Amino acid sequence: MRRRRRATEMLLAALSIVAVVISFSDAQEIQNVTIAGNASTRIISPNFPFTYPNNADKTWIVSTEEDHKIAITFFQFRVDTNFDGDFLQIGDGTNVTANQFFEENGFTLPPNLLSNGNEMWMRFITDDRLADSGFVLAAASVPSTEMLACSRTELDCGHYCIRGTLQCDREADCFGGTDELNCGNKESANENV
Ligand SMILES: *[C@@H]1O[C@H](CO)[C@@H](O)[C@H](O)[C@H]1NC(C)=O
Ligand SMILES: *[C@@H]1O[C@H](CO)[C@@H](O)[C@H](O)[C@H]1NC(C)=O
Ligand SMILES: *[C@@H]1O[C@H](CO)[C@@H](O)[C@H](O)[C@H]1NC(C)=O
Repeated sequence: MRRRRRATEMLLAALSIVAVVISFSDAQEIQNVTIAGNASTRIISPNFPFTYPNNADKTWIVSTEEDHKIAITFFQFRVDTNFDGDFLQIGDGTNVTANQFFEENGFTLPPNLLSNGNEMWMRFITDDRLADSGFVLAAASVPSTEMLACSRTELDCGHYCIRGTLQCDREADCFGGTDELNCGNKESANENV
């Protein structure tokens, strides 16, 4: 989803001048979110359902009790893809940027995610240009015995499942591009499903 559409860049650049005038910038902000064992909470991007701010850098440190993991379900997802400056990034633990397993923008609801342990960081970064409404997700504490259960037609990306047909399609769909490894000359992995 990291596609540049040069043909529309000039128009978008012009529009972004308008956007800059009506937006404000946010300093880096960190919020702790503690979820009781087996409980759940909602996490919402700044200003939702209105346009999120430009130059935002907001981090949520999500934690739950020991012997539990964190399961993420998305309800809304609209993160501008122009200029590739707006992203939601997620990783295991509390060390922001370490052990990252997810990064996305776009308008497709991401898959359900499952952490490895009882702590997870989520960071929402936006650039100084176009914006959209952002995201709404549920973070649920689940027993640590919970395992990712991908169906036979899905590929296991470690923390989430994707459609199996996305394997070896020459576009990274699992974070880090693990779905494009060991593809040989295969055009698609349909033979593997
Ligand atoms: C968040 O939690 C960390 C570690 O427990 C703590 O050092 C920090 O002060 C907390 N931040 C806020 C804003 O509560
Ligand atoms: C969460 O549910 C699991 C399984 O039902 C249970 O074993 C565990 O004790 C629960 N955790 C809490 C904190 O209640
Ligand atoms: C956080 O992760 C970075 C690498 O991503 C590492 O260099 C650093 O030591 C880690 N910090 C802590 C406190 O673990």
